[in-house]
Amino acid sequence: MQEARLGALPDGIYGQELERRIDQAANAIRDSLRHQPDLQAPRLAIVLGSGLGDVVELLDPEPRVRIAYGEIPNVPIGSVGGHAGELIVGLAAGRPTLVLSGRTHAYEGYSQREVTMLVRACLALGVRTLVLTNASGGLNPAFDAGEVMLINDTINLSGDNPLVGPNLEALGPRFVPMTDAFDADLRRLARAAAGRAGVQLHEGVYIMLSGPNYETRAELRMLRALGGDAVGMSTVPEVLVARHAGARVLAFSLVTNKATEDVDHEVTHEEVLAMGKVGAARLVALLRELLPELVA
Ligand code: HPA
Repeated sequence: MQEARLGALPDGIYGQELERRIDQAANAIRDSLRHQPDLQAPRLAIVLGSGLGDVVELLDPEPRVRIAYGEIPNVPIGSVGGHAGELIVGLAAGRPTLVLSGRTHAYEGYSQREVTMLVRACLALGVRTLVLTNASGGLNPAFDAGEVMLINDTINLSGDNPLVGPNLEALGPRFVPMTDAFDADLRRLARAAAGRAGVQLHEGVYIMLSGPNYETRAELRMLRALGGDAVGMSTVPEVLVARHAGARVLAFSLVTNKATEDVDHEVTHEEVLAMGKVGAARLVALLRELLPELVA
């Protein structure tokens, strides 16, 4: 009854309606896998950020099922270049794995409840470990474009939260602890994998802003003073729904550009995509070492 009075959430997607939409999306994915016994019941999902589509190479070429986001009910379709918008299901180290190639962002006009619909559908399918990747600007002056940062904490300055609205009690608790959101064991494995792959791995705090503009110099100064090492426009909503559902989270940020107050040129989306390609090769090398341990 209380839900009926909650017309205040502008997208109208909350409570039972949100739960219904998540189930509908999950059922559509399950249905697409019905003829592929080896790909059912995936426990691992990997979300690919801007320019990181090459990570799909980590899946065996066969068997694979590809599902365009547009074919999955209730999943929003992205409009940003570098985000293919396709769910690829395949085997990584012999285990069924979901690769979410491309994500939609709240700045495209979606609520964070909508933005996280596909991740929540994956969690409903039984995913217990979520690996997130994104592109970011490096606030930490020691970071160079093309380098990789392991996210060990986040600051949510997006102005929104996907868990706003009546709590979905069947999925998780009302008040989600976030002090240890980034699984310490997984981070240890990630550092070791980076060492074996010969990939330099920074570690630090990711700050999420809503975007879509890149930051002003005054904002960059503030974000660094707040304790940020990298800044971007995604990932935090996905971490929140995954932690709400009790899944383990590991997240990598690809620093595609310097984002210090004294930067000597303005960042462009083209630069982000180009440097994403450079960094993606490093991330693929790291994940190739890491995946067998994640699915073990
Ligand atoms: N700021 C915000 N998001 C980003 C950046 C940036 O400098 N680079 C890539 N994503």
